This record gives sequence, C-alpha cells and structure tokens, in this order.
Amino acid sequence: MPTNSTFYGADWNPEQWPEPVWAQDLALMREARVTAATVGVFSWSRLEPSPGAYDFGWLDRVLDGLHSHGIGAVLATPTASPPPWFTRAHPDALATRRDGVRLVHGSRDTYCVNAPAYRAASLRIATALAVRYARHPALRLWHVHNEYGTWCFCDHCARAFRTWLRERHGTIDALNDAWTADFWSQCHGDWSEILPPRATQYLGNPAHELDYRRFLSDSMLAAYTEQRDAIKAVVPDAQVTTNFVLGGWVPVDHARWSREVDLVAIDHYPSTLDGVPAQSAFAADAARGWSAAAGHGGRWLLMEHAPGHVAEQGIQRRKPPGMLARIALAHVARGSAGAMYFQWRASRGGAEQWHTALVAHPGPATRLFAEAVALGNRLAATEGRAPSDRSADEKVPFPTGEPAGAATACGEVAVWFDETCGWAVGASHLPAPVDYQGIVEDWHRALWRLGYQVDVVPPSAALDGYRVLVVPAAYLLTDESAHTLERYVREGGHLVVTYLSGIVDEHLRVRLGGYPGALRDLLGVHVDEFDPLPPGTAVTLDNGDRATAWTEHLTAPGAAVHVSYPDGRPAITRREHGTGTAHYVSCGLDETATARLLDGVCAAAGAAPVLPGLPDGVEAVRTADGVWLFNHTGESHDIAGRALQPGTAMELPAFSGHFTEIAATRPR
Ligand code: GAL
Repeated sequence: MPTNSTFYGADWNPEQWPEPVWAQDLALMREARVTAATVGVFSWSRLEPSPGAYDFGWLDRVLDGLHSHGIGAVLATPTASPPPWFTRAHPDALATRRDGVRLVHGSRDTYCVNAPAYRAASLRIATALAVRYARHPALRLWHVHNEYGTWCFCDHCARAFRTWLRERHGTIDALNDAWTADFWSQCHGDWSEILPPRATQYLGNPAHELDYRRFLSDSMLAAYTEQRDAIKAVVPDAQVTTNFVLGGWVPVDHARWSREVDLVAIDHYPSTLDGVPAQSAFAADAARGWSAAAGHGGRWLLMEHAPGHVAEQGIQRRKPPGMLARIALAHVARGSAGAMYFQWRASRGGAEQWHTALVAHPGPATRLFAEAVALGNRLAATEGRAPSDRSADEKVPFPTGEPAGAATACGEVAVWFDETCGWAVGASHLPAPVDYQGIVEDWHRALWRLGYQVDVVPPSAALDGYRVLVVPAAYLLTDESAHTLERYVREGGHLVVTYLSGIVDEHLRVRLGGYPGALRDLLGVHVDEFDPLPPGTAVTLDNGDRATAWTEHLTAPGAAVHVSYPDGRPAITRREHGTGTAHYVSCGLDETATARLLDGVCAAAGAAPVLPGLPDGVEAVRTADGVWLFNHTGESHDIAGRALQPGTAMELPAFSGHFTEIAATRPR
C-alpha cells in the first residue's frame, strides 16, 4: 500500500539539546527506519538571534546529519513564533484580543498576521532559508509556518479588513444590505466606520462575524503564499506545504487552502482515547476529500499525531500497546503519504515538557520506542524497500503526481463537510446550540461503523460516482451548492439531508418562504417551525427510533412520509426524482437510528460495506491494492478466513469482493 515515498518520522527539535544528543537521535532514527524529520518549526530565535544576523551553522549540521543517515528533511519556516527581539522592536505586531487587550510575548503565535513588520520579517527569514537550503540533498518538503489559525482584532487588521470588504462587496450599500445593517441601526456611511467584530455590549452581527472569519482565512493564506512564492522563486520545483490544524475555532478554509499547497498535510489530535479510530477515519477522509477536490489525487500526509497518549479533557490517556502502528496504518490506508508525529524526543523543559514523544524522558528503552521501531520496519517492508537502510544518496521521491485513487480507493458514499458552514453556525444565534462538525462526525461515524468506505467532501468536490451523499446541517448553502445538490439527485444520486440545512444564504440571510429554504423543492417538504429538544429528552418516532436534540413541524407536499412523529406529522421523508432520491431527516437521531436509516438508503442505492458483517470495532479499508483490516477491539476475530489478533492491522492484498463489481458500474 505505501509507496517508496512514505514519510515516517516526527518533529525533531535538536536546538533543545546538546550536539552529542543529536548523534544519538540520528542513530535511533536509523534504528526506527525513520524517513523524514521535521526541523526548524520553532527555531527563529536560534536562526536569527538579532535582526538580520543569521546563524545557520547548527542547522547546516542538522541537515547534513539527516542526509548522512539517509533521512529526508521537512524544513519549516519558523514564523509561528517570532523571537523576543522582534516583538520588542514591533509591539504593534503583537496580536490583540477581541476585548482590546494586546497579548504579550511569552508563548507562541504572538503575532498579528496583518502587521506589516511581521510579514516583512517572515518573508525575510523564509527567503534566507530558501537561499541557503533550497538545494540541500536532505530536503524533501518545505513546511511553511505551523498551524495557521490565530485571531487578531488590532488596527492593522481593521485596515486590511476594510480593503478586503471593499473587494468583496464593492459598495458600502451592498455591504449594508449583505449584513442586514438596518437591524439595530448598523448602517455604515463610510468604509472607515467599519471595525473588526471586537467586544461589544450584546450580540454582534452574524454576517459581520462571518466575513471576519473569511477575511482572517484569506489574510493567513496571503501570508502563507507570500512565503511559498519566496521559496519557489529560489527553487521553482520546491514542494511546499503547511500543516493544517483541525477544529471549528480555526478561521482557515482548508478546502480553499488545499489548492495552494503541493501536499495537503494535517495535524490530528483526537479528543478521546475510545474515539481515536472513528475520529482518525473522519480526519483522514476529510484530508483526502480536500486533496482530491484541489486536484492532488487524494494524496495527503498526516504531519502530526501524538505517539503515546491522547489528551482527553486534560488527562493524558495512555495509548495501549499496538495502537501506534494500527492507527498509523489506518491513516496510510486512507491515503496518507505516511505517519509523522509530534515529537521525536520529549522536551526537558518548556510548555510541552509532558507531551508524549517517540523517545520519551526515560530514553529509548521503552515499550513505545520498541513499537516505533516495529512500525518503521513494517512501513519499510510494506513499501517493498530492501531490508537494508536507505542509502544517503538515494533520492526520496515526493508523493505527488500519482493518479487519483493510487493511494486509496474512493468510496461509494460521501458526507458533505463545509467548514464555512461551521463558521456560519458559530457566528449565528440559533434556536438551540448546534455543533456543526459534531453533527457531521456523527453521520460519518454511523457510516464508518456500518463498514462503508466514505469520502468526506467539500462543496467544491465532484459528486458524480457517489451512490449516496449525506448532507448534515448545511445551515449555510450558497445558490451554487444548492444547484450542485439538485443536479446530483436529478442525475440519479441518493441524497440524505438533515435538519438545519439550506437555511441561509452566503450572507446569513434567511431564505424565506419556509425551511429548508434552498432545498425545499428538491426535498418536497415545507417546515413551518423548529422545535428543538432540551438535553436528555427524546421523542419516540413511529418506527420506534428516538429523535433527539432537534425536531420540526413540517408538511410533505411533494414527498412520501417514511417515518412520523408520535402525532402523525412527517419526521423523515423521501422524494423521488427519476432514479434519484432526496431524503429529509427533520430531527436529530441517535446512533442506532442513524445507522438504521443509512443502511437502508445505502442498500437501496446499491452501495455496500467494504466487507459486510464485520464485528463492531473491526474496520476494513479498501485501497487500490486490496483491503486493510484493523482490529480495534481486545479480542481476536476470524475475518475472510484469517485470524485477526486483538489490536492489530492486516493487509489482504488483491482482495476485492463487492468492489470488483461496483468498479464496473461506477458512476451510478
Ligand atoms: C500541535 C502543534 C505542535 C505541538 C502539538 C502538541 O498542534 O503544531 O507544535 O504543540 O500540537 O500536541
């Protein structure tokens, strides 16, 4: 499954250690068959100890050391953490909170992305690095910055926001109209009156807030592309990326950003230990979806992952034996070009001194390091490399340019995931609290549990070829997206839309005349009222399923009623359009009910699980070469004639089953 371009390694911070430790690290990396190390992420104060004075000597030795050990470098630009001299010289370049408090130096991300001095200093250090290292033989990939995603509300941002708004809206009247500014007397007479959405007396304007998130995303993207272009100006064929951090609080539109990177790279830190397999599947399917929609063929990279623990509500839950390899391989099966971790060696001091690492404080004689060595051997064997270590002269190929689906086959079922929709929900004062990404993940998890191969797709994705498309809580739906969904059904697709979809336009203005606004005709339903449920309560539907969180009062003038509320009103409906169907789910469903509904829709659409009838906790992922099995349970299982040991992963090469038939019938 992996190709000989597999990335396996971690963030390595040699600047935190005396040089004899570097030699130990390099030897240990070789032992673990590491193929790449991310260096320089937070090294600005070492690389440029005073303005314009560089010290590259130590990084020369680091890169030379990697190369002489046959290990590639993922070289970061250090701009996520400006040195103290910078903020002292440019206090205006520090980030300012919503309440006007300017943050001080002392952590990381202490900058405003729109501050001219910060941008100039970032460009300078990125260019200096490019000039020095562009042709270094260890270099595999440029890693610009680290996890773009900071917020700022300062005067630099205010100025840049006004320019951005002019470009977006054209005239102040158009902006007032888009922001429904007559509400609470917010009509602006001039651009200069507009501020970032800073702390105010009571509720802010949702459209203002949403435009600000879009603006921050574009500001950070401009900062990224500036550095990328500076690197490519020195070496046009340089491969450049940045590591995406996932989460609803991040004002970064990853689908859009994916077009600007050479390899989509994500950091993923699941929030619960038990949730690791499902959350990893979701993040991986989303990364693959961004990559495919941006024209990268579904190839992506897990750039950061925690080796030994999961931070669950402030408690570091230890990953049990076997989990390191199993979850790494589960990402690779889903299209990752490898598995990279944060970090290689655990820090002695500093804010993250208790963060897990492949080489922990006790040293390499640990269970975890032994697992890291085993994983390295397994990845090397799987990609077909000779058992001898990579030689220093071997040029490691970059994992792009492969045909779509080379890494992993795409699914028959897709789940729509629009991060800007999450921003819209987050900016709005809805009739009940709504966790957009949580709802999307719930629907994805139900399909994952049932064993379907799922793609998580952004609105820009091509939808032909999917038998089933699930659109959960797409509160903000542009006209274009509404047409895309309509076309999908008219061309024979099977659509499942949930409550709180199609409600507002791109400016968060409600689509009038009955919900779900943009999709009313397609679904054949008309919602008059929302009726959200208090936590812990449920309504039993006429098929015995439980509705939770949200219910609605609707009629179904153009659709057949599939399931009803206790008083006979429609709850779940279905409308046929030729061979296509459009289902509407007007309520929240618990996991069992969600699974039951989806299994029925998928079966009717001709979709099937990768391997039907797998026990709960056993996962099958189809790749271009066969099928991978993952046993996330503590018991062994007999699958397809093989004994799958507890907590392990196994490849069934050239295994096809159901997918041989469907390959012939795709698209629908
Ligand atoms: C990531 C970050 C790393 C490190 C890690 C700890 O989000 O990029 O630098 O802080 O979290 O989990």
